[in-house]
Amino acid sequence: MTDLQVRPSETEPIGPEEDGDTATRRWATAYPELGTEPISTDRFISEEFFERERKEVFAKSWVNVGSNHDFLTDAAFFVRDIKILGVSLLVVRTDDGKVQAYHNVCSHRGNKLIWEKNGPCPKVFACRFHGWGYQAKDGALASVPDEEQFYFGDKSTLDLVPVRTDTWNGFIFVNLDDEGTVDLHEHLGPLGEKLADFPFEKLSLQYRYDVPEKANWKVALDAQNEIYHVPMLAPVHRFLSGGAFHTNDEGYTRVHTFDRLGLHSVYTSESDDDFQDTDSGVANAATHPAFGVLQLPLETPFAFHVVFPNMVLAFFNNSMFSYNIWPEAVDQTTWEIRLHYPAPTNLAERVLVEQAKSRFRDLLCEDQAGHEALQVGLTSQARDIFVLGEQEVQIRAFHHNLDNYMDGVRR
Ligand code: FES
Ligand SMILES: [Fe+2]
Repeated sequence: MTDLQVRPSETEPIGPEEDGDTATRRWATAYPELGTEPISTDRFISEEFFERERKEVFAKSWVNVGSNHDFLTDAAFFVRDIKILGVSLLVVRTDDGKVQAYHNVCSHRGNKLIWEKNGPCPKVFACRFHGWGYQAKDGALASVPDEEQFYFGDKSTLDLVPVRTDTWNGFIFVNLDDEGTVDLHEHLGPLGEKLADFPFEKLSLQYRYDVPEKANWKVALDAQNEIYHVPMLAPVHRFLSGGAFHTNDEGYTRVHTFDRLGLHSVYTSESDDDFQDTDSGVANAATHPAFGVLQLPLETPFAFHVVFPNMVLAFFNNSMFSYNIWPEAVDQTTWEIRLHYPAPTNLAERVLVEQAKSRFRDLLCEDQAGHEALQVGLTSQARDIFVLGEQEVQIRAFHHNLDNYMDGVRR
């Protein structure tokens, strides 16, 4: 299959405005390898392309499956079903803090071993069908009811099947590819180093939303991977973003900084100085230094990291929101959203967190409707390309990385 991303431009690319405050072709000049050409719409609707993503990306990459927040207690487990890979994983943290994922499959006749979403870690995981038991500490087959009736050779071949697992800063990653892919440290590369000492422990998971969408997973990611839409999308974005994302004299947002970090990327933006005093600022008080001083070592109020392939780590002042955007079919996605704030210490702070969470949820509802509408337009094939501007350079970088990854360039 040929590369579906970039088609030669039939006309000269349209340059950005030349209004003095924007360096002309700033990002195109800084990242010439990303080009300025249109993007093929085929990659959002093609079953063939989706199949390539399944085989060449999700089956061959480190994928974030959760964080320490998913463990209810010190020794605990959670189950993560990954539909695009057709697997269910049992992720276990034992007393000693070791985290290991296994295929959530009983070795007897293949029953899904654990059906609960999460729980405290038992000593032994027992299959509900015939009661085979597996040690939580290492997945070893521990007990078989009426064992004499079986013809075992080497019983250890019937242990749970482990999956390559590693952690970074409290985030848990798995890789279904045992060989041929780099370790997690190398996969995260400069992004992992940039955030190596980031004080994630100052943030607590307060809310999680799992949003089903009739849209391709990249539609959802692209739509969130820019702030061009923020002043235009009404009413919620326009209200909530007032001052949070600085706009120029014409009312347009600007990417303040953008950086390619290996397979990953980050862009930032600035807020207006008086943002905290605006109506929008008050509605977002829990994200601001309302609980004291700014606790996170951010260079800008807003920083949005895309962690290849399908994760986002974004900071807004004292808060972090993360996305895991899970492809399920070419036009079906679950957008997993997690909101992290400093843990409230009193009722007033609790209320501020509730308020910020509700406002943010409304904002994302507006986004979600847009994702599905985009998919309708793409599926119609009224056009077979779409165009990206300078303020969407990070979308271009993501598709560039995706193509490279599928072609075997994996850093
Ligand atoms: S399938 Fe699990 S014990 Fe039989
Ligand atoms: Fe948005």
